[in-house]
Amino acid sequence: MTERTFSIIKPDATRRNLTGAVNAVIEAAGLRIVAQRRVKLTEAQAKKFYEVHAERPFYGELVAQMTAEPVVVQVLQGDNAVAKYREVMGATNPANADEGTIRKQFALSIGENSVHGSDSLENAGIEIAQFFTEEEIVG
Ligand code: CMP
Repeated sequence: MTERTFSIIKPDATRRNLTGAVNAVIEAAGLRIVAQRRVKLTEAQAKKFYEVHAERPFYGELVAQMTAEPVVVQVLQGDNAVAKYREVMGATNPANADEGTIRKQFALSIGENSVHGSDSLENAGIEIAQFFTEEEIVG
């Protein structure tokens, strides 16, 4: 089934000029980048985006990292895009990520793990709507 998922290329990756390298892995996996924008998240945006983690001990650091430098927000489209992108990203902790995944290749640590991807189709819809209008997504 064709799906859309939401992706963020995080500050640790944009800082190291890895946007194109990450996008090459995404495209090689057969996912299509159907919307993309480089932005500097505000504290309010980052807090809202990660509000499910508000009680976690790493929340403050996560918000600080995500707002420190620009990110690239994206919509990816393809067959089973949600699950496929999670496979392409690799495990949250790069120490556990499989060979060839984005996080294995580029992530620095569990906090600076280069990319975010939606964990369900429902959350993909919610996350996409936080950053893109339908008109901005061109499949
Ligand atoms: P992400 O997929 O963006 O979702 C939540 C983020 O919190 C996660 O990736 C990590 O970058 C970050 N994080 C920092 N510490 C932890 C931790 N101990 N467990 C899970 N996520 C963490």
